[in-house]
Amino acid sequence: MSRTPLAALAIAAGLTLLAPPAYADSFTPGSAGLGDPYFPHAGNGGYDVAHYDLSLRFNPKTDLLKATATISATATKNLSRFNLDLSGLTVRKIAVNGKPAKFHRKGQELTVIPAKGLPQGEKFTVRVAYDGKPEPVNDPELGVTGWIHTKDGATVVSEPDGARTWFPANDTPKDKATFSFTVSVPVGLTVLANGEPKNVGIVPVRNGWTSSKWEMREPMAPYLAMIAIGKFKVSESVASGVTNITAYDPALAKQSQHLHKTTAKATEWGIKHFGPYPFSSTGGIADKLGVGYALETQGRPVYDGDTSDDLLVVHEIAHQWFGNSVGLRSWRDIWLNEGFATYAEWLYEETHNGPTAQQTFARLYKSKGDFWQLKTGNPGRNGMFDWEAVYERGAMTLHALRKKIGDETFFELLPAWAEKYRHATATTGNFIDLAEEMSGQDLDAFFKAWLYTAKKPKL
Ligand code: ARG
Ligand code: ZN
Repeated sequence: MSRTPLAALAIAAGLTLLAPPAYADSFTPGSAGLGDPYFPHAGNGGYDVAHYDLSLRFNPKTDLLKATATISATATKNLSRFNLDLSGLTVRKIAVNGKPAKFHRKGQELTVIPAKGLPQGEKFTVRVAYDGKPEPVNDPELGVTGWIHTKDGATVVSEPDGARTWFPANDTPKDKATFSFTVSVPVGLTVLANGEPKNVGIVPVRNGWTSSKWEMREPMAPYLAMIAIGKFKVSESVASGVTNITAYDPALAKQSQHLHKTTAKATEWGIKHFGPYPFSSTGGIADKLGVGYALETQGRPVYDGDTSDDLLVVHEIAHQWFGNSVGLRSWRDIWLNEGFATYAEWLYEETHNGPTAQQTFARLYKSKGDFWQLKTGNPGRNGMFDWEAVYERGAMTLHALRKKIGDETFFELLPAWAEKYRHATATTGNFIDLAEEMSGQDLDAFFKAWLYTAKKPKL
């Protein structure tokens, strides 16, 4: 309840009309970003999202999306206004707690001004009605992300900051939430999303449109949210007690007919090495995207075209533990995702008559790759997906750690890491702490050489 000196003076002088209402002092805007060193505008301050309920209607013939997002959140301070991340599209109407709210837009920032301030600790809902032609982000360094139009529909891949191309989001890996999707499409097309379908049985058809519901009941970062619309061949079964739902574009039958089996195999293998599978279902989607990469969208990775490489599937499934369930707090720690998923490939080979992880490590260590020019633990925004410096040197870091602390401790550390930060977020510091605790060794110099020095570490 602090007042500005001017307001205090005005009150003292009896000029109460000049004094601002009490809340104007204590209710302030949420920040327009969270200061991530790589993506300073991504995410927003002042609230915490619990759930996104996305209702989408998409017509591939016109590329038009018509949508309503209902977001349930809690204010983490007294909020006079707050931001969401949204790019392109037209916002028609916003309501906060059912009452019309003002809004304005600038760049990726959608600022929502509720009629009344939102008190710290209180839950609120914001409902955003919007429509338009979604456009993907095309970053010269990181490639194409977000809503990808395909020949027969659309599929979403949003790492690191493409969620804003299709729904208003608190687009930071720090703020996980549950999601529900209701997607209407012309009859004849199939919809898939994260999690599990909700309406089994008869799908309602009206005026040539049909709609389906999907639900992701475990917390998920916005960049991992996915829907896929198009002609798909869908398979469903159960692997080690986990529902497995995969789909491929029939045009990819040759390259992707084994996706279902490989996904089951990779999931079962992951459970053996990393501990309980973190989500209610597993799966995968193969579609013709043309982005040139696969993405570990939660519970159901998206593959661009070919899924005949088992190691790619192992990589994306390993991310379900490392990257998705154990999420990032800062994008500079991206090696926690990519180094781990790449090391999972090496371990898979080692346990399937391939080269041992030691052989892969030794081959790379003496090769002439660009592993040493960047700091794996802080590769820079444009280097975050650098194959050699982040993926391979990240995996080499884990292998060097394995040699330093011994197989027994190392193979306890991986599931312990997955368990300790399950459905949460973590930092490289958290990993170093756990490795030190479990091994009883001081590992600061080791990690400094492997993660924070742009130089080849000595063995
Ligand atoms: N995380 C994905 C993978 O490891 C790669 C995502 C690349 N994203 C991008 N914008 N280039 O398979
Ligand atoms: Zn990866």
